Amino acid sequence: MIRFEGKVAIVTGGGSGIGAATARRLASEGAAVVVADVDLGHAEAVAREIVAARRKAIAAAADVSKEADVVALVDRATCAFGALDVMVNNAGIGGVQGDIDEVPLEVWQQVIGVNLTGVFLGLKHAVRAMKAGGRKGAIVNVASILGHVGFAHAAAYTASKHGVIGLTQAAALELGPLGIRVVTVDPAFIRTPMIAGMEDGVIPLHPIGRLGMPEEVAAFIAFLASDEATFLTGASYLVDGGYVAR
Ligand SMILES: NC(=O)c1ccc[n+]([C@@H]2O[C@H](COP(=O)([O-])OP(=O)(O)OC[C@H]3O[C@@H](n4cnc5c(N)ncnc54)[C@H](O)[C@@H]3O)[C@@H](O)[C@H]2O)c1
Repeated sequence: MIRFEGKVAIVTGGGSGIGAATARRLASEGAAVVVADVDLGHAEAVAREIVAARRKAIAAAADVSKEADVVALVDRATCAFGALDVMVNNAGIGGVQGDIDEVPLEVWQQVIGVNLTGVFLGLKHAVRAMKAGGRKGAIVNVASILGHVGFAHAAAYTASKHGVIGLTQAAALELGPLGIRVVTVDPAFIRTPMIAGMEDGVIPLHPIGRLGMPEEVAAFIAFLASDEATFLTGASYLVDGGYVAR
């Protein structure tokens, strides 16, 4: 399938896990991809791999919780490739922060800063670029099953992901008339570095009997970002092996 020929995409958190798989998938279908990550070395490794496969990618350092970084990131994409069609706001940090009455304010603020404010900033500046370029666009925000249900000892993470779903709904209402679609993808536990050490404990929570793989999420993100999904906006899509059906 070549659904992204001539399209330009940014993937935040593209240096690892779901973001890396998404960058590879979009590039394999023809997109020019900006692999963005706070860890530039990891972003560069993914971009190099894509280029070695004769596809288009560049790496960019960006901390999504910092507005100046996100502005520079979007500028980098439009300067390098001429436009922006797809924004995947994927960067995120985990998970377990301990008893709710013990969570330090700094931890709460850090998780909200990356997982929610980071998505807001990516959305804001992607929309500016899409409007300026006069292109219809697709924005895919990576939320979580924890945007739908709770998880003990993960208050900040759970709140941040519920926030991403609300933000997506508000943005979709505003941007629909402009032809810019905004959706979320909501994975259950996916085998990435984010959940290292938790795997065995969480497998039984998935009726399908295993963890998800980053490529399974990336395939769905690519569908949502493509012109096969032109009637989809404002909604959230579980990729969860049945987790929320329990
Ligand atoms: N793995 C899971 O089980 C799971 C489940 C549901 C949702 N998610 C979500 O999927 C997304 C990707 O997670 P993953 O599992 O691939 O994790 P991961 O840890 O493998 O990758 C996350 C990437 O984001 C980058 N990153 C972290 N903070 C950043 C920042 N401030 N700015 C830019 N980049 C930053 C990291 O350097 C890393 O490369 C996250 O939003 C996460 O919350 C993951």
